[in-house]
Amino acid sequence: MREFSGILRGGGEAIHGVLPCSFQGFFNISCLSKVLDLPPENLIKSISAVPVSKKRRVADFQLSIASVTEDNSSDCLAPDLHLQAQKLAERTVLRQVLKDGSEYGVKSELFSTVPKQKALIEFSSPNIAKKFHIGHLRSTIVGNFIANLKVALGHEVIRMNYLGDWGMQFGLLGVGFQLFGNKEKLKTSPLQHLFEVYVQVNKAAEDENTKKLAKDFFRKLEEHDEQTLSLWKQFRDFSIDEYIRIYKRLGVHFDEYSGESFYQEKSKEVLNMLENKGLLQKTIKGTGIVDLSEKKDLSSFSTVMRSDGTSLYITRDLAAAIDRMNKHNCDTMIYVTGKSQSNHFQHLFQILKLMGYDWVERCQHVSFGLVQGMKTRRGEVIFLEDVLNEVRSRMLQNMASTKTTKEIEDPMETAEKVGLAALIIQDFQGLLSSDYQFSWDRALQSRGDTGVFLQYTHARLHSLEQMHGNEQLTDINVACLQEPDAISVLQHLLRYDEVLYRSSQDLQPKHIVSYLLTLRTGLPEPARLCLFQAARSVLANGMKLLGITPVTQM
Ligand code: ARG
Repeated sequence: MREFSGILRGGGEAIHGVLPCSFQGFFNISCLSKVLDLPPENLIKSISAVPVSKKRRVADFQLSIASVTEDNSSDCLAPDLHLQAQKLAERTVLRQVLKDGSEYGVKSELFSTVPKQKALIEFSSPNIAKKFHIGHLRSTIVGNFIANLKVALGHEVIRMNYLGDWGMQFGLLGVGFQLFGNKEKLKTSPLQHLFEVYVQVNKAAEDENTKKLAKDFFRKLEEHDEQTLSLWKQFRDFSIDEYIRIYKRLGVHFDEYSGESFYQEKSKEVLNMLENKGLLQKTIKGTGIVDLSEKKDLSSFSTVMRSDGTSLYITRDLAAAIDRMNKHNCDTMIYVTGKSQSNHFQHLFQILKLMGYDWVERCQHVSFGLVQGMKTRRGEVIFLEDVLNEVRSRMLQNMASTKTTKEIEDPMETAEKVGLAALIIQDFQGLLSSDYQFSWDRALQSRGDTGVFLQYTHARLHSLEQMHGNEQLTDINVACLQEPDAISVLQHLLRYDEVLYRSSQDLQPKHIVSYLLTLRTGLPEPARLCLFQAARSVLANGMKLLGITPVTQM
């Protein structure tokens, strides 16, 4: 204990209560207690007694604990640092990383008190026959990340896609298809074809007759006329088939394809419920609204019914939320959309609260900012597939200019994975709520803070392993792990759980991104293979969480 308190004075950091500390994150108590051969309770007691002295990284602190010194008045590196560092490596970090594999970090004590939950995550949610805009892409990768992270941490996750598959646009589309549609094209490229039909019919809809036909078509749809419904169902089914294929290129899948169409009937029940609870007010125009103001003076309200009694986007969302909760009984529900819908979700949650659904406290809208300036060679982005093709072909071009490409087995596939990493890292680097200017060139740079360089590092580490085989941990070369560079990688590896914890708390991928980018730049040269193995393993884990498939050659 004498030694121990000396070290604490050497590398102190504000530590509140048991675990959290103010500056970097958290102590890994079990890891420390193993290194120091101290029971965790004693460790916690000692740590709690530390005065706030210096601001230091937790990892530094951990190492300074390892550097047990006789001279407890200074925080200079102790004479037996190397021995201790080796201990740290052997007994904790490297062993743990290599043993836990893809579970490294997620088994940490940090998560032991977090109850396992069932989470429904709704993301992507494009509108049939309309553009798949960049906001949908952002929702897709962000939602996928959140789902991956939750699954990795042992939670149960339902991935849901809530399609825009209902509304007046289907009246127009139905009429348009009768005028300009082609069954063959609908089968082979539904998304493109329906979009074209929709654009054409929109032009035609300036004519009153077409407008009337569209209204009739939609009315028949609402009345569940068999023929009308069957055409609509084809639009929907073929579109979903194509979505599934394209999402697969992104490495994304959904457990459920829901959509606004499911809630046409149930919206009526919601309106009845609102009426019965005295929450529905009629305006002079005949629309139905819910007063959301505190003083009940209508200074804030939400329109939930058209004057003809039909439902709106929010009414269907009310019905959908209630239905999802009934059906899945989840602990939390997360919606991932652009921040332009923040008001919508605020209103949605407020109304659910007024209706007495307390579970709404556990619902969350994860919003993100605008992405400006994403264009492909075909012009403005309309289809997700255009983005994927563009990034792949740009990456292929870049790869062709480097010599190594010829040896790659499947350049197309590699280009796609590396290109996607580029898109994802560019998107996840800042806070999700901030807007950013999209740039192909910046994203695809082969050096610097890009997904390309992350992939490159992974591939290089992988090929080193292939060349030299696995190194036994017992073979650790002590001299090598004494190098400051190697030690800082060990420290960094130790911190992986803290980073996962932070991302799991605020659902921001940027913590993991900057962690991986730092890990990449910190790798010493030359260093021991086991260190590389460990670094590669953590790199791959983190990349997979972000939705990136690590490549093994490029
Ligand atoms: N389809 C909508 C759009 O493209 C997004 C749906 C978001 N989710 C929801 N439950 N409202 O804007």
